[in-house]
Amino acid sequence: MTVLSIAADPRTDVGASPLADVGVSPLADVVGADLQAPLVTGGHARYVNLDYAASAPALRSVADRVSALLPLYSSVHRGAGYASAVSTAAYEAARAEIARFVGARADDVVIVTRNTTDALNLLATAAPGPVVHLDIEHHANLLPWRARGGRIVSARSELADIVAAVEDELAREPAALLAVTGASNVTGECLPLRRLAEVAHRHGARIAVDGAQLVPHRRVDVAATGIDYLAFSGHKLYAPFGAGVLVGRRDWLDVAPPYLAGGGAVRRVRLDATSWADCPARHEAGTPNVVGAVALAAACRAVAELPEQAVADHESALLARLDEGLAGVDGVRPLRLWPEAERIGVVTFVVDDVPAELVAQYLSAEHGIGVRDGRFCAHPLLDRLHPAGAAVRASLGLGSRREDVDRLTAALTALRRTGPRWSYASREGDYLPTPDPRPLPAWAAAEALPTAGPCHLSQAL
Ligand code: ALA
Repeated sequence: MTVLSIAADPRTDVGASPLADVGVSPLADVVGADLQAPLVTGGHARYVNLDYAASAPALRSVADRVSALLPLYSSVHRGAGYASAVSTAAYEAARAEIARFVGARADDVVIVTRNTTDALNLLATAAPGPVVHLDIEHHANLLPWRARGGRIVSARSELADIVAAVEDELAREPAALLAVTGASNVTGECLPLRRLAEVAHRHGARIAVDGAQLVPHRRVDVAATGIDYLAFSGHKLYAPFGAGVLVGRRDWLDVAPPYLAGGGAVRRVRLDATSWADCPARHEAGTPNVVGAVALAAACRAVAELPEQAVADHESALLARLDEGLAGVDGVRPLRLWPEAERIGVVTFVVDDVPAELVAQYLSAEHGIGVRDGRFCAHPLLDRLHPAGAAVRASLGLGSRREDVDRLTAALTALRRTGPRWSYASREGDYLPTPDPRPLPAWAAAEALPTAGPCHLSQAL
């Protein structure tokens, strides 16, 4: 992986800040960095990926690891062949690497899941008592708890007040678990996890953290922070191969009903009785996602090898530039909850008088910029921040560079000054460039949908 030095070059440093160049170039090599996106107005532009918070591109080193694994890919825990032995070893080594990456305790378990949603749904089957959660969560950390009657604490406008409100709720009535996000997928703002963990433990509860957004951006140390369970996804951590994880204390999970009933999760099956395995096998029935787990572990290793300060500096520099750029565009309003909160590289905003769907389609069609629009699977939070409806989200990662941020700012400035140059048809709340001459690669185009352009799916989710 390419890691750029942030040290000043003595030949060129004539008093400028040594951080002056931070963010000019990507911090890591990602697959697709030079993708050329077709524009409706003709020609191509280098694709600007500002949608890391939804799905981050694969790190080159992760793709290389997957390529190295595939010739040796075979069944795990089941086969006697050499490829099976290698795949089994790689799968279990991946589990250990992931545990190391998040500072798991020696007796914690790593269960490979499909993604964060899957991991939190699994935990919801295992928590042995009432659950308390906030009202600002992504649906993945909201709906599993709603389904089992979770108690809601409304997030106050000051972080200290949220901690106090959580404490009041846990003191009022005991709970087994407090479930919170590490960083909001809408505002990028981080919650004070250490303080929340202390509060939970003081009242006999455990704490589960939705780390989907936080883990790709900040080193999370489960043991040092006091986190009991951490869930995160490979597709947001530069390993988009379909795996996520639940990491944490094994006792609840060892006695919970198996998440899926099937082969691999058992010790012995008779027609009248089944003896289930302990974790992690208990919750990994069926052939597990070996490629996804190995990819996720490779991403963990690659991110861990980056200098922590370089990652923080890269992101802070780009975030500051994005904030400044958006502040300079008339009619653009960022959505925030807690001005004092630490933030990861995620900014959600609305543009006065321009629907979010149209902003997003315009950025893609005329500028080759990929953002997400909608309500970000966090409807209650959007109801609070922007009751009128959808918003636009720009999110950054290791492959982001200063030019990406500047292209977004310039495109929004042009939108406000002169409006779109292309025409967009409004259909059921979506806006589609009309006509849309951008071709899909032949292998990606469904014959049954001959008119589908790249953006014909509703994003208002
Ligand atoms: N949860 C992902 C997001 O916020 C998909 O975009």
